[in-house]
Amino acid sequence: MRLPFKSADVRVVIEAPRLRLVPLAAADADEMFEVLDDLRLHRYTGGKPLSCAALANRYRRLELAASDDGVEIWGNWIVRLRDGQIAVGVVQATVRAHAADLAWVIGTRWQGRGYAGEAASALADWLRDAGVRRLAAHIHPEHVSSAGVARHAGLIQTSERDTAGEVIWESSPAHRAANQASTSAAFRSGGNTG
Ligand SMILES: CC(C)(COP(=O)(O)OP(=O)(O)OC[C@H]1O[C@@H](n2cnc3c(N)ncnc32)[C@H](O)[C@@H]1OP(=O)(O)O)[C@@H](O)C(=O)NCCC(=O)NCCS
Repeated sequence: MRLPFKSADVRVVIEAPRLRLVPLAAADADEMFEVLDDLRLHRYTGGKPLSCAALANRYRRLELAASDDGVEIWGNWIVRLRDGQIAVGVVQATVRAHAADLAWVIGTRWQGRGYAGEAASALADWLRDAGVRRLAAHIHPEHVSSAGVARHAGLIQTSERDTAGEVIWESSPAHRAANQASTSAAFRSGGNTG
């Protein structure tokens, strides 16, 4: 299978109205530790915050932007406010061939302002423009705000779950068509798609 782009291609800045997505670098670890050192961010995903040293190690690896076997391209961006360049979170795209899994984290004090939705939407648009045809996200069934972020990125909920029980959201052309049909039906019946 041919990848739509190479690791160097994900090392680009992506602009959004209020935000700038900047390729993550090891030098960001100290700043991001302040944003991510919060157990509340792990409520639906499990795990716990990394130490500052572990975060720096992880970022050094992520900066390479590809798996060892070259099969996956790893895009990781620090979400920064355009105003002041303050780091508020991180978004991620793991790309295999023409499909990408997306993930997002926004620091607790910055949540509820639409930043995750805006960042995810900009990332999804950029990936689509780059030729990625299927976008997906795996979301805990009770994680309401993450579901909202996925909707902003143009993903829709499928009936599939992964092995961890997370709901798979995706945006393949087939699912988009199905979503349009069910949304129309819901409007006709006065229902709420939720
Ligand atoms: C999920 C997360 C990224 C959302 O960040 P955020 O910046 O607060 O999200 P937004 O402000 O863009 O809101 C996204 C949607 O969720 C809704 N929302 C936000 N907080 C909510 C809450 N507490 N309850 C219900 N809906 C909520 C918003 O209204 C919005 O939907 P809308 O545009 O349809 O109104 C953030 O909570 C987070 O980082 N959580 C920890 C990491 C995580 O679990 N990541 C997801 C892994 S898949």
